[in-house]
Parts: sequence; structure tokens; C-alpha cells
Amino acid sequence: MECYSSGLMNPWIQVPLADYEGHMSADGVEQLAPLRELFAAALAHTQPESVAVLGVAGGNGLDVISRERTRRVVGIDIHPEYLQATAARYAELPGLELHQADLAGDLPRITPVEQVHVALVFEHAGTGRCLQNALSLIAPGGWMSVVLQLPSSSEQGVSQTPFASLQTLKPNFRFVEAAALTRELALHGMRLDEEWRVDLPAGKAFWQGIFRQMT
Ligand SMILES: C[S@@+](CC[C@H](N)C(=O)[O-])C[C@H]1O[C@@H](n2cnc3c(N)ncnc32)[C@H](O)[C@@H]1O
Repeated sequence: MECYSSGLMNPWIQVPLADYEGHMSADGVEQLAPLRELFAAALAHTQPESVAVLGVAGGNGLDVISRERTRRVVGIDIHPEYLQATAARYAELPGLELHQADLAGDLPRITPVEQVHVALVFEHAGTGRCLQNALSLIAPGGWMSVVLQLPSSSEQGVSQTPFASLQTLKPNFRFVEAAALTRELALHGMRLDEEWRVDLPAGKAFWQGIFRQMT
């Protein structure tokens, strides 16, 4: 396992991993398991030899990666504690490479991968520089899988739970419209190959789109 780092400041830095995972598992949120399943579905579709997970957090879902097929796994996150936890939890994962970096800023040099997975990150990091960075990590003919949180009439973007630190993320949270993202990606030669919607317990829903780079 290789670990890299860079300097940064972002509201996520104030959110301990235990708070993040507690929030995401709390009654009425319950998003970690659906996110893991969506990652598994994306990998089943693309069968990549290498994958990068942007906003890898504590490594949710890395256990579904096939160790035979996928020989290189890149995780990027702004939070060093999250990456330390991922490194400890997945020390045995072949080819694990973790980078501390701001996805909305300059990335370190990272060799591109066959699939880039971006789940609930554009809502926090935006679709400007972060999207450019995501595209730059895709090897020719590769894939991008994106999970977006869909707006809900009954629930806020960041739900209320006992984990108060999560509320500090609210000012930077913006919903990203799937159709607009699909149009933007088409301009970059990425064609939507498959999409689906997953309804969550508390009235929220996720959208997942899998895009293929046209060579
Ligand atoms: C909602 S969580 C992602 C969930 C995770 N992808 C999953 O499927 O379970 C957002 C993650 O993105 C990271 N993040 C947010 N903004 C970032 C940025 N500008 N650069 C790098 N990582 C960022 C956070 O630290 C957090 O780990």
C-alpha cells in the first residue's frame, strides 16, 4: 500500500470518521449499504482491472472489489484520518494506493485507471475542477460511475442526526442534476451506458449513472 499527501482546508476535515459513519448508518439515513451495493453494481458492469474511488472516506464498499480481476485500487480523499482508516481496514487489498488531496484543486500525479467511481462527492466538491480531475483519471476507453443524491420533498440534503459535526457540511452542499451532468459529460466524450435509481428508507433516493469514454 502506498500513501501520498498534500496540504488542505475544508469543512470535511472537522468531521471525525466515527461521526461520518455514524451519521450515514443512523436511522432514517442508512446510506452506507446502498452505496456499497451501487459500487458493486458498477464494478459488475465495467469489470475493471483498475479503479479509483474519489471521496473514498473509510473505504465503504472496497470489500466488494474482486481481488483477482482488479489489481490496482486508488482511493482519494481530503481527510487524512479517513485514509488512515481505509489503509488499516484494507491492508490486504492488492495494489491499494491512497492519496490525500483536494479533488477541487491540484491532484498529485496519479496513473489513470479503467474506472473512476464518484459517489456523493460532486455535491460537496462541485462539478468544476473536481469533474475535470475525475475525467483526467480515466484511461482511454475507460468508465466513470457517478452516484448523485436526488432532491427529496421530505428530507434535506444533509439529514439531521445526533452527529452535529455533519451539519457543518450543509453550507457547501449542492444537489447536482443528473441530466445536466450527463450533458456535461457528453461534451467530454463520455456516453451514458446505464442508469438507475435507488429509493432509500427515509424518502431520499440515489441516481447512479455509468458512463463510457468514447475513443
Ligand atoms: C459523502 S462521502 C462519500 C461516500 C463514499 N464515496 C461512499 O460511497 O460511501 C464524501 C467524501 O468525500 C470527501 N470529500 C469531500 N470534499 C472533498 C474534496 N474537495 N476533495 C477530496 N475529498 C473530498 C469527504 O472527506 C468524504 O470522505
